[in-house]
Parts: sequence; structure tokens; C-alpha cells
Amino acid sequence: MLKACMVGVMAVLLVSCSSQPGPRPHVESGMAAPSRVDLGQIPGWSSDDLDFFQRGSMSGEFIPEKTFRALVRANPDLFPNGMASFGFVTDPGEDLPVGMSRREVPHLGDQVSIGLNCAACHVGEVKFDNHPPMRVMGMTSSFDPEAFYNATVIAMLRASQPAGMKKYLGEYVREYDHRTDLSGIAKEHLNLFHNIGVALHLPAEPPKNLPPPSGPGRNTAFGLLSAVLFNEPTPYAPTKFSPVWNADQRTWVHWDGNTSSPINRNILASLGLGAPLEGRHAIMDFSLVDRQTQLSEAIRPPRYPLPVNEASASRGASIYAQYCAKCHDVPAGYEDKRLHSVTEVGTDPARVKLFTAKQAALYNDFFAKLQLDGYTPSAEPTVRSTGKYVASDLAGVWARSPYLHNGSMRTMRDLLTPPAERPKTFRRGDTEYDTANMGYKNKGSYVFDTSTPGNFNSGHDYGTSLSQGQKKDLIEFLKTK
Ligand code: HEC
Ligand code: HEC
Repeated sequence: MLKACMVGVMAVLLVSCSSQPGPRPHVESGMAAPSRVDLGQIPGWSSDDLDFFQRGSMSGEFIPEKTFRALVRANPDLFPNGMASFGFVTDPGEDLPVGMSRREVPHLGDQVSIGLNCAACHVGEVKFDNHPPMRVMGMTSSFDPEAFYNATVIAMLRASQPAGMKKYLGEYVREYDHRTDLSGIAKEHLNLFHNIGVALHLPAEPPKNLPPPSGPGRNTAFGLLSAVLFNEPTPYAPTKFSPVWNADQRTWVHWDGNTSSPINRNILASLGLGAPLEGRHAIMDFSLVDRQTQLSEAIRPPRYPLPVNEASASRGASIYAQYCAKCHDVPAGYEDKRLHSVTEVGTDPARVKLFTAKQAALYNDFFAKLQLDGYTPSAEPTVRSTGKYVASDLAGVWARSPYLHNGSMRTMRDLLTPPAERPKTFRRGDTEYDTANMGYKNKGSYVFDTSTPGNFNSGHDYGTSLSQGQKKDLIEFLKTK
């Protein structure tokens, strides 16, 4: 049944085993969501678009919903918070979290199946003291995709054993299948797990020497893709899900500015998360990926929702002009002037080292030969290796925490602290906001250890010798960006 190569899911294991005004009047309540959405972020979207971006498909459904729900119920230790485990944003009354889609997929026997969409990683929530949560479109979420896929695969492996199957079927049969031939049903499901396992390239033995878990808000996207598309393992290099706003004003995206085609990057995202590939043929619905792409290109930066001290911010503006603007405010048309070598900026090198010229050539070849109804390959190569990191535009920078490409800096205050004095570890996973230091509070179940390769919080020491008062002013100014 599942002859296709369902890339990505296994790769995760392989690689790491209206009426509610906010504090400012422009913040309105969400159309489809009870937590507030700043509609100024999505001026061109209809309420159907908002719903589609949060719950619609990107063609990545990978497991029948009934199977998934029965696995969740049979394994409360793996899914302690049910479907909403792993940091998903949720809405009361909705039976799927934001970031999960459902669709009947042909390669899963037309069963209603579920998977992730862009919003799993690119819609976040922020909690300010005494305010309802604010939902931010395009923001790095606190979702942990590695943990999500690992739990799902482990639950499937458990259900492939007799005791686990009994428990799983107990849940499945009670809810969804009232036939009495239990051993027949068990056989069907073993077959389904087997087929999914083959399709996911599950190894006979779990891999040894797993790298540390990437935690919420990060994954090694290009590492996973390289392993499954090209069978080329790469070093561990977890990256923060990039904030996605003003994407239409960029030519080259990603932390190293390696990709110029939005549709190509999103086809890769679908392939990496569960859309199958049979030879050169991508098994996905192009129109869904295309719609997600168009919506994602139209998201604007979120505005800081609390009052800002204007006198302090205007002092901060001149500090910014002196210390930061030359790299972060680059005029349109000179985008490549945003690129800086690791030698210059001094941050963790793993991500730029991963994406070599060979990698770029592999992707360009892949796209040139990709078969997908509705897709036209670009005439020019759309992927390149730069060996450098992008100094992003800092619009909405208050909502880009934790900072740097690997998310190794919890707050702006930490980024403005000399490297040797920066915190060695911090907690990640909670969404409460630290207004004084600019970033998430030091809370959450994941401990981010900056001492391991890929996770270093070195470098970018710009502005670190400013006085405490100057740093405060700079942070106040940055809230206005
Ligand atoms: C599992 C999490 C995940 C999902 C789902 C996901 N992305 Fe991403 N996205 C990432 C990561 C990680 C990066 C950074 C990759 C890098 O540079 O190494 C990224 C980068 C991006 C960027 C580049 C932004 C910039 O400024 O450089 C865009 C645009 C983007 N994603 C859009 C999308 C869209 C649209 C979808 C849905 C079709 C999507 N993403 C689905 C994790 C995800
Ligand atoms: C010499 C160029 C340069 C200067 C000067 C500079 N930056 Fe950066 N900045 C970069 C580069 C390159 C990166 C990406 C590094 C990485 O992610 O590893 C970056 C990343 C950042 C990020 C992280 C963005 C994100 O999405 O995580 C923030 C925030 C930032 N800089 C703020 C500042 C501030 C504030 C100043 C002034 C005090 C400043 N930068 C000065 C080059 C510069």
C-alpha cells in the first residue's frame, strides 16, 4: 500500500533518533481564534485564509487520524498532554491543534489522515503579564517536531509488539471498528505499521550516538532533507524556525540566504514532513502548497503590543544607528550585503558548514528533475551555498526570540552581554514574555545547553560594551521596530 518513500519522518529519528482590545487599539481579537491576532499582520487575508494557514493542509499528512488518536490514547506516557503535547498552539473547541491538518490522502488508502502544516512551526503565542495570549503569525513557535515524530514512531513500534497491539487495538476497536475479528484487524494494522515503517526507512536497530534533542522551536531541516533525499548525512546543526514576515521582500531566504524560490522551499518542507516521493515524483497536492506559500509571503511583522518609553527609545535610536544599522539596515537591492562570514560574526558555525556547494548542486539537480503536477522548474538554479549568515532585517525583532540562527540566546539583554558572561544554559518551551530583557522568560521543560557543537552562543558581540543605561535605551528602541 505504501510503496512510496515517505521522507522526513524517519529522518527525524535517524538524525536525533473583536471585542477584546489589547493594550494598544490596533490589536483586535482573532476571527477564528480566541487568542488575539494582530490583524495588522495579515492585511490581505480573509478569515478563511487565517483558518487555512492555521489548520489547512500543506500536503504533509502521514498517518491515518484514527490510528494516530488510538496511539495517543494507548501511550499517555509518550503523549502526556494528548494531541496537544509537544508545544502546539491550541484553541478551545477545536479537536486538532493549530499546525495540524487533516485530509483524505490517496497513498494512505484515502483514509482521513493528519500531518503538520506551516503554522506548526511558524505561528506562535506570547503571554504578557495580565493580558490574554497574543497569537503571532509567522513567529517561531514552541513546537518540538523531533519529539512529536519520535513519540509517534515509538508508539507505532510498541503497537507492533503483541502486548502493545492489544492495548492499541483496545483503543482503536472501541472507538472506530466494531468488527469482532480481532486477529484480522490486528493483521491489517501490523501491515499498516509495517508499510509505514518501510516507507519511513525505519532501521532495524535504533541509531547509536544520538545528538542532543533540538527542543522546541528548532530542527535540523537541511540535515534531515539531505539524509533522506540524497542519503548524505550532515553534521548536527539545529536551527530556529525562521520568523516568516516580509518574506516577499527577500530574494534569498534561510539563515545562510541559500534559497530563492518560495515554492521550492515549501515543497521541500512538505517532503521533509511526510509527503511521499516515488522516484522523482512528489506525491502531493501542489495547489495546497501553493496557497500556503502565497499566504506566508503576505505576513507582516508583529507590532510590540505594550507601551514604549519614547524618550528612552529615541536615545536608543542613535545607539542603533551607530552600532547595528550598518549590518541590519541594508537597502533593497543590496541583499547580499547582509551576508557575513562566521569568522566575522563568530556565532556557531555548524549551520553554514552544513550547506556546502555540493549540497546546493544536489538540490538544484533535484528541482530540475522533480515531477509534480502544476509545478514548473525554474530556469535558473534556486539554491546556492554562501558559507555566511544573514543579518536579518530587525522588523518585529521583539518577537524573534530566542535569538540567532540556532536560537541560543534567550533575550536581547543576553545578546548584548559579552560572550564569556552569557548564560551557559537556559530553559525554553514556555511563552511568557520577559519585557525588561526582551525575549521569552527562563521557563519551560527543555534545557538549552550552549556548550555543545551546534548550540554555541558565541560571537555577535556588537554593543556588548555599552553601559547598562544605553542597553536599556537600545532595547526600548528595538521594541518600535
Ligand atoms: C517542522 C517545522 C517547519 C515547518 C512545518 C515549516 N517550516 Fe519554514 N522553516 C523551518 C526552519 C527550521 C527554517 C530555517 C531553515 C534554515 O535556514 O536552516 C524555516 C525557514 C522558513 C522560511 C525562511 C524565512 C527567512 O527569513 O529566511 C520561510 C519563508 C518558511 N520557513 C516558510 C514556511 C512555509 C510557508 C511553510 C509551510 C508550507 C513552512 N515554512 C513549514 C521550519 C519549518
Ligand atoms: C557586522 C555586522 C553586524 C552588526 C554590526 C550587528 N549585527 Fe546583528 N547579526 C549579524 C549577523 C550576521 C547575524 C546572524 C548571526 C547568526 O544568526 O548566527 C545577526 C543576528 C542578529 C540578531 C538575531 C536575529 C534573529 O532572528 O535571531 C539580532 C537580534 C541582532 N543581530 C541584533 C543586533 C543588534 C541589536 C546590533 C547592534 C548592537 C547588531 N545586531 C549588530 C550581523 C551584525
